[in-house]
Amino acid sequence: MSRDPATRSRAYFAGGWHALDRTFPVFHPGNGQLIGEVADCSAGDARQAIDAAERALRSWRRVNGYERGRVLRRWFELMLAHQEPLARLMTLEMGKPITETRGEVHYAASFIEWCAEEAGRIAGERVNLRFPHKRGLTVQEPVGIVYAVTPWNFPAGMITRKAAPALAAGCVMILKPAELSPMTALYLAELWLEAGGPPDTFQVLPTNDAPAFSQPLMADERVRKLTFTGSTEVGRLLYGQAARTIKRVSLELGGHAPVLVFDDADLEGAAREVIASKFRNAGQTCVCTNRVYVQRGVTEAFTRLLTEKTAALTVGDPLLDGTQVGPVVEQAGLDKIQAQVQDALARGARATTGGQATGGLYFQPTVLTDVHPDSVILREETFGPVAPVVVFDTEEEGLALANASEFGLAAYAYTRDLGRAFRVAEGLEYGIVGLNDGLPSANAPHIPFGGMKNSGVGREGGHWGLDEYLETKFISLSLV
Ligand code: SIN
Repeated sequence: MSRDPATRSRAYFAGGWHALDRTFPVFHPGNGQLIGEVADCSAGDARQAIDAAERALRSWRRVNGYERGRVLRRWFELMLAHQEPLARLMTLEMGKPITETRGEVHYAASFIEWCAEEAGRIAGERVNLRFPHKRGLTVQEPVGIVYAVTPWNFPAGMITRKAAPALAAGCVMILKPAELSPMTALYLAELWLEAGGPPDTFQVLPTNDAPAFSQPLMADERVRKLTFTGSTEVGRLLYGQAARTIKRVSLELGGHAPVLVFDDADLEGAAREVIASKFRNAGQTCVCTNRVYVQRGVTEAFTRLLTEKTAALTVGDPLLDGTQVGPVVEQAGLDKIQAQVQDALARGARATTGGQATGGLYFQPTVLTDVHPDSVILREETFGPVAPVVVFDTEEEGLALANASEFGLAAYAYTRDLGRAFRVAEGLEYGIVGLNDGLPSANAPHIPFGGMKNSGVGREGGHWGLDEYLETKFISLSLV
């Protein structure tokens, strides 16, 4: 099939690429310029997609797992072959620096590679029964039609982390990509079809009216699973809607990651890792460090290191190779960052570097000290390049501060004391813990990614992620 960039302004559903009368614009956060207009799908289009998915499921679920794996393998190879245009498109859509989007293509493709290898290994078990004349076994079957809703901060990675296990398991997917980054999703659909993915196994329908579009999908009994990555607020709403038809759910929601830097830490290494965790994607990941708790004995030395390294970051045009921090994605995000920083400053905090918006959607990489405990930035996710530093005295106090959050996605700790490392990792109420490691999910499609408390339900990645798309059926056979 042709690689016609026009497909990236259409929607793919019900067996074809649809150019719709209703469209919505997509802008480049780096300079505000229009990149293109994209099809704005309606509830009616969603209904057509469900009917098409039902037909596609009938045959895809029966395709041998090894064959499904072969199609996924070709999808993986095509993604790598398209690394540069995919990376550039992501940077244009949502402003992530090009070196990071190149890395994201690899990260996103690695979920497909892992699932391609695993598809043929999906199997059941023999179960011993208490009656000599009976035999028992389990088989693994696809959950069915999956509705996926994905965010803009990883326009490719958060799609393949869902689509690859779903398709490997024999499910079919209807994807609503984020309004801010729909073209990357359409590009992935194009590559899936080119890889030999059967029509309607992976349908991509952009929309600018998510509530109206989602309504038929959430209400339809045939849609058996919802997988969502996004805010806790929207996740809660969808969770409630999913209850009506008892859909399986996977929710990857907000985070507010704390980091604990102990007196015995390698301060240089800790500062390097905190920078990597805090400022990647301009602070716009769910696992970005949000609160920096530093033990009193090293507060001054660590803050100095953190400030120097933060001030040395190269901020600029995300399409340039040397850029480390680009713009944030939209005005609402920038407004939130500014409001949190203003609130902290008004309560007595000091900016040791940064602290200002600098035009367009840019905010300086910032370190705040003397942050008052009541500051909003210590309670709410920032999704921006700001590191608030708070002092603590004892291990117990540090843990209590780190756990004082409704969220439980990722947390980090820096220490050279092995006993403390384990005590702290076990005491943190978080789904992911990085010990002396600011990027625990880097290059790792096979680890369980997900949160506790209001950060979500279920895990993505590895066999945990694949299980989310499989039903276990028990079969009992009597020989008499
Ligand atoms: C996220 O922000 O949810 C994804 C981050 C990652 O996969 O490392």
